[in-house]
Amino acid sequence: MVEISLLGLGLGVTLTLLAVALHFSRGTAWTPSADISQDVLERRASTVPETDFPEPMNRSIGGGGVAAGAVGGGEEGGELEGEAEEESTSPADIPEDEVEYFEVEYAKQGSTVEVANNETLLEAGEDEGWDLPYACRQGQCVSCAGQVTSGGNSEDYVVHDDQQMLDDGELGEGYTLTCVAYPKSDLTLETGEAP
Ligand code: FES
Repeated sequence: MVEISLLGLGLGVTLTLLAVALHFSRGTAWTPSADISQDVLERRASTVPETDFPEPMNRSIGGGGVAAGAVGGGEEGGELEGEAEEESTSPADIPEDEVEYFEVEYAKQGSTVEVANNETLLEAGEDEGWDLPYACRQGQCVSCAGQVTSGGNSEDYVVHDDQQMLDDGELGEGYTLTCVAYPKSDLTLETGEAP
């Protein structure tokens, strides 16, 4: 009996020591990793572009969702500004005190009209009460096409404000889109003539 008790006691002590050893080995080996959440937040915040918008709009537009594109944001902004400047070079924006007038002979109508260089050939004809053809009025179809018959390239006589339909050959034959054509010289125009 005594032997069994000693064996049991020894076993108990051994298990207890083992449990204590395990407890300390686990408790001291693990250390929590550093809290980097603040670093992550600050790094993400640094990628959001600064804007002049008031804070609420800044948040709604600039938000974290577009942070990845923030590096190129400045360049895009520059391009947009450039485009805005290009738009302001449209002949339509020529102020009245800088306007020049040119003699445009509308051959089919048998009339010559003074047309300002901030007015399209189509508008000037409509101002005369003529029913001239058109559709998009944006240089994206050929409904309003006409032909400058003064000789040579139509762009020697008009400025096209963003026409997208006529190629160099057609321009060279004098064709023009009257809805986006502003005179820069006297000219003779056949309306209703498409290439
Ligand atoms: S109306 Fe469409 S290009 Fe002039």
